[in-house]
Amino acid sequence: MTPNYPPEPFRIKVVEPIRLIPPAERIKAIQTAGYNPFSLKAEDIFIDLLTDSGTGAMSQHQWAAIMEGDESYAGARSYFRLKDAVDDIFGFKHFVPTHQGRAAENILSAVLVKPGCSVPSNMHFDTTDANIRARGGRPANLVIDEAFDPANPHPFKGNMDLAKLKAFIEQIGVKNIPFGMITVTNNAGGGQPVSMENIKAVAALYHAYGIPFYIDAARYAENAYFIKLREPGFADKTPIEIAREMFSYADGFCMSAKKDAIVNIGGLLALNDETAFRQVSNELILREGFVSYGGLAGRDLDAMAVGLYEGLDEDYLAYRLSQTAYLAGLLREQGIGLIEPPGGHAIYIDAGSLLPHIPHGEFPGQTLAVEMYLEGAIRACEIGSVMFAHPDPDTGEMIFPRLELVRLAIPRRVYTQSHLNYLAETIGKIARRADQLRGYKFTYAPELLRHFTARFEPLK
Ligand code: F0G
Repeated sequence: MTPNYPPEPFRIKVVEPIRLIPPAERIKAIQTAGYNPFSLKAEDIFIDLLTDSGTGAMSQHQWAAIMEGDESYAGARSYFRLKDAVDDIFGFKHFVPTHQGRAAENILSAVLVKPGCSVPSNMHFDTTDANIRARGGRPANLVIDEAFDPANPHPFKGNMDLAKLKAFIEQIGVKNIPFGMITVTNNAGGGQPVSMENIKAVAALYHAYGIPFYIDAARYAENAYFIKLREPGFADKTPIEIAREMFSYADGFCMSAKKDAIVNIGGLLALNDETAFRQVSNELILREGFVSYGGLAGRDLDAMAVGLYEGLDEDYLAYRLSQTAYLAGLLREQGIGLIEPPGGHAIYIDAGSLLPHIPHGEFPGQTLAVEMYLEGAIRACEIGSVMFAHPDPDTGEMIFPRLELVRLAIPRRVYTQSHLNYLAETIGKIARRADQLRGYKFTYAPELLRHFTARFEPLK
């Protein structure tokens, strides 16, 4: 049965009109975009699920805090309000604001990554992966095997495989691992949570070898709430208590505040190590801005200080996670294959199983994403062969990813239940005529990060 979900713990005070343009206009719009939803104009989209990053709705408290923003270059009141929140929730000796998550990753990598070294994680997000590589490092993904089986209902599919981690450290050598990570929730693996037990064990393993442990904390509040719901011993704890315990095992974290801190821009980097912090400060001043604003306006710091607490609010999190589960339920009822159980911020449709007649090289995920736009002006993101297929450097043979997915990322506090019903109906209509769909081919594809700007043509 489709789970229902608790009514939104907010009411709507400001609205942003959206318009469903007619089918003929959609055909023109997607042709002009080279059949790549990234190249569509946002105003031609009815429901935009491209990302949950920076797309959330700020609250009246956040907008009010923006008016209090102190734009002093150094030592602004806004910085100290953010510091109070960051100290209270995360408890590290030092922190700096950054303009978004990848800026924090860039600075951390600039300071700690040396050419040839390795950085293990459950799964690195693309920007973390790319920032480590950009400094000559090698990211390694050591998530449990269950993560690769879409149907496996494991409650913490984001967990690190401890045996793989131990073997990796032994093989690579402690000297070549400047720090280790874990991503909560695991976005690259379906938005799946990591258990407290696993975070604790990963920290203990890293520390046994003297390796500093950093958390990629973009969706830390959703992870905390999954722990409350699913892990024995946490049902009576509040999300903030759970978050505090998660971070108590780490030596630092980097974070995109555009997700669980529900701001449109911002990030954080925090750590305990004095020497590293001095280097972080110098890098920050060089690339982002002074240590008390890190590339943001004072008002952005205030919005983040308030949003950090709102993202941990229990009523909000109960609504948030069950909203995602509700949409998953509607799709599942229509026989549409998903990564199970659904993650916190997104649903990942298994386009490979929906379109078995379209081979990897004809892009089943892209086909579904384009069809969602044509059928209902919905925008979603392909996470499959367009994003990841690459030629083997030795043989030139194409290597395709295991799964062909389409991610429906749900912006925070933005869409209502009727929007979700509309999404499920639209995708259901496509599923019923899935066997008639044909794939696509590239007409242009850049070498790196090609999904952003590639262009396509439908196959006959
Ligand atoms: N880490 C994770 C786990 C992320 O999901 C993201 C961004 C980042 C780091 C980088 O943060 O965008 O603020 O620089 N994820 C977005 C997404 C873009 O759509 O999943 P950023």
